[in-house]
Amino acid sequence: MSASERRDPSDRVRQNRRLAIAISLSLVLVAASAVVIGMVTGSSAGGGQAAADESTETPTPRPAPAVEPPPATIDTFDRAARSIDDPTSIWVVVNKLRPMNPQDFEPDDLVEVPVEHTNEPELRQEASDAVVAMFQAALDEADLELASNSAYRSYSAQENVYDGDDLTTARPGFSEHQTGLTIDIGPLSGECSLNECFGDTPEGIWLRDNAWRFGFILRYPADKTPITGYSFEPWHFRYVGTDLAAEMRDTGVTTLEEFFGLPPAPDYE
Ligand code: DAL
Ligand code: ZN
Repeated sequence: MSASERRDPSDRVRQNRRLAIAISLSLVLVAASAVVIGMVTGSSAGGGQAAADESTETPTPRPAPAVEPPPATIDTFDRAARSIDDPTSIWVVVNKLRPMNPQDFEPDDLVEVPVEHTNEPELRQEASDAVVAMFQAALDEADLELASNSAYRSYSAQENVYDGDDLTTARPGFSEHQTGLTIDIGPLSGECSLNECFGDTPEGIWLRDNAWRFGFILRYPADKTPITGYSFEPWHFRYVGTDLAAEMRDTGVTTLEEFFGLPPAPDYE
């Protein structure tokens, strides 16, 4: 028997205990090292699992990057830029609730309008220039010959025009012809002049579509009698200037009452 075989059994028990303790310490050290490495690198056994999960699962949808919406159209038109009350303003609104003020108003810049006509037309200078340009454009662009049937009408002239039918003629002092900014237009041929059928003629259609370019609006549209108080007059054009005429066309607002937020004027007070 060797010396080691002859060793006391209690020695062998102690040796085994020391070995077990050493192994346990080693395992503790290895585990502690793993935790420290995980903290430093931001990963761990659990984190590794999460990373694996991320690569296989459908990712949670993230909110799309904020995209700036296109800027809303801002109405920058200044509706208060001119008076709608002053009879000398090209935006003056005259209707059955808004008579000429003063009642006998006469523009001080009336000129003869150098265009074909049935009655010698007068208008304010600015409106006259626009009529001349518009008639020339109708001829140049569409080979259409236009003529004036009536333009400025004084208070006393309107007394002769008013026929008692409030749907078709204005009472004296209530006609916008008195502003010097309004003209009744027909074809030079006279076909459908001052008649609703003018709206279906090439001249009437051209004016309906192009008058805005020269600062005119068709003042009494077919569908706005409850607002304007007058039946459809496809021949009656009112000068308001190119800014307002273009704005009304762009916005699709066809009456001055609606554009300026005024009450409908179907009847006299
Ligand atoms: N015919 C239009 C309404 C006027 O008399 O003024
Ligand atoms: Zn008219």
